[in-house]
Amino acid sequence: MDVAVIGLGRMGSALVRRLSKLGHNVYTWNRTRERAEGLPGTYVEDLSKVRANFISIFVADDDAVMDVLRGGLLEADLKGAAVALMGTYTPRLVVSAAEVLRSRGADVLALPVVGGPSSVEGGTAIYLAGGDKAVAERHMEFLKSLGEVIYVGDLRQTAALKLAFNALGLGTVALLGEALSLASAYGVDPETFGRLLGMTAFKELAQHYLPRILAPMPPSFTARLAAKDLRYASLAAAEGGVPPLITDAAKNLYEAATALGKGEENYPRAGATFMKRTP
Ligand SMILES: NC(=O)c1ccc[n+]([C@@H]2O[C@H](COP(=O)([O-])OP(=O)(O)OC[C@H]3O[C@@H](n4cnc5c(N)ncnc54)[C@H](OP(=O)(O)O)[C@@H]3O)[C@@H](O)[C@H]2O)c1
Repeated sequence: MDVAVIGLGRMGSALVRRLSKLGHNVYTWNRTRERAEGLPGTYVEDLSKVRANFISIFVADDDAVMDVLRGGLLEADLKGAAVALMGTYTPRLVVSAAEVLRSRGADVLALPVVGGPSSVEGGTAIYLAGGDKAVAERHMEFLKSLGEVIYVGDLRQTAALKLAFNALGLGTVALLGEALSLASAYGVDPETFGRLLGMTAFKELAQHYLPRILAPMPPSFTARLAAKDLRYASLAAAEGGVPPLITDAAKNLYEAATALGKGEENYPRAGATFMKRTP
């Protein structure tokens, strides 16, 4: 199948590698062309020339999606193509992008991803599919070749579920960092903190995230994107009539870490070291 990937950041690049392993004809585009170097696939210079059965938009945020649409994609021949919005975007953006894409003849799916670049490349990521059920079913075999798939419902519900999940995950990791800082401020060894968590329901959380808090690692998900997701989750919660109290606290943390120059760092450590007391 002809598949296009627009946005070759950590996630888009991982998807290109996965698609290429699966034997698809992959077409790629990125705002900064150099990011395509070393990746499989055929680079398309001009967005308006993109032609594929399935087009994945995997850019950073709502503004980036609008830039891609206005920057040429809406001039492409989209008749009969499915366009999947794969990044983490607001329900509002997903609905309005879908409206203009449909007016150009495309089918549209919300397809946000739970999992990082390595799970996308390895085929173990979870894809939340949303939009017209018949469209999702038409592409189900292809989607299942990418990883686990959950059909959620309409576009708004799907975007909202992804934001709810990320509010939970990012907020939990923010609090883990703060709790570690509290213990460290009184001289408690991080190992003792980890041992305690390992004897409780927090065992998996500690195993997965404490190493990412305690040592710098190459970023797979940055503090800047964590702040963006929490900003979007906060907006969506408020629009749904839910006061985003804890979401806002976590949002403030990652926004402050980003403002202090930690935006490109891995988010668990960027958030925790912003609090200064983390070893
Ligand atoms: N990383 C993860 O673990 C993860 C997991 C689930 C979901 N997500 C979501 O997936 C999306 C991509 O994440 P990522 O980690 O791949 O981000 P990333 O590595 O920071 O890459 C961001 C991508 O967006 C592009 N972009 C940014 N602004 C743009 C604009 N105005 N116009 C066109 N392109 C623009 C960048 O192009 P340039 O190269 O030109 O800057 C780059 O291709 C985000 O919505 C993120 O929240 C990420």
